[in-house]
Amino acid sequence: MMEKKITYFEKPGKENTDATLKLAIERAKELGIKYLVVASSTGETAIKALELVKNAGIELVVVTYHRGFYEEGKDSMDPEIEDKLRKEGVKIVRQSHILSGLERSISRKLGGASRTEAIAEALRSLFGHGLKVCVEITIMAADGGAIPIEEVVAVGGRSRGADTAIVVRPAHMNSFFDMQVREVICMPREK
Ligand SMILES: Cc1cc2nc3c(=O)[nH]c(=O)nc-3n(C[C@H](O)[C@H](O)[C@H](O)COP(=O)(O)O)c2cc1C
Repeated sequence: MMEKKITYFEKPGKENTDATLKLAIERAKELGIKYLVVASSTGETAIKALELVKNAGIELVVVTYHRGFYEEGKDSMDPEIEDKLRKEGVKIVRQSHILSGLERSISRKLGGASRTEAIAEALRSLFGHGLKVCVEITIMAADGGAIPIEEVVAVGGRSRGADTAIVVRPAHMNSFFDMQVREVICMPREK
């Protein structure tokens, strides 16, 4: 048995970013975790994470939106930021989103929702957008070869920034139910 601290933010959102990243890195250090997986669309949250993770002995993996998420053929991340991150040795994962995938096109065109989208919505509604994102980016990072299948800390948020951090045992897309959320480090109380 062990006792651990969980931080609850009153509301979701970007204003919780600094606290979330600090708490995430603190717990990763405490547990000897080697990888911090962070969602970042524009690169803003990634840059904050980079500053905090320096000299902590933790590898930063940034998962960003797939190309074309906002606009056909375009990336969501500022190319200058991406360049800086890569030069600092940060791994960037950009690939199809695991918890929407091709099914999103079908739902948009024909209505209804897939089983995958139902899983995503259950995670969002029950535990918040941030936790759904943590689950999704961990699988994307594992499938992209950026992390091994060993405990990592994952960080996500609601639209922008970060408000949720978890300790998670990753899994690949084809073995989703092998994934385990081992600890919640912080999350918003309101979703
Ligand atoms: C693959 C992926 C999926 C995401 N899904 C959601 C989502 O379902 N709901 C949500 O509010 N934010 C979602 N986000 C946004 C992230 O949680 C996070 O707030 C954002 O990427 C931070 O970007 P920034 O660096 O521009 O602040 C997603 C981000 C990524 C990379």
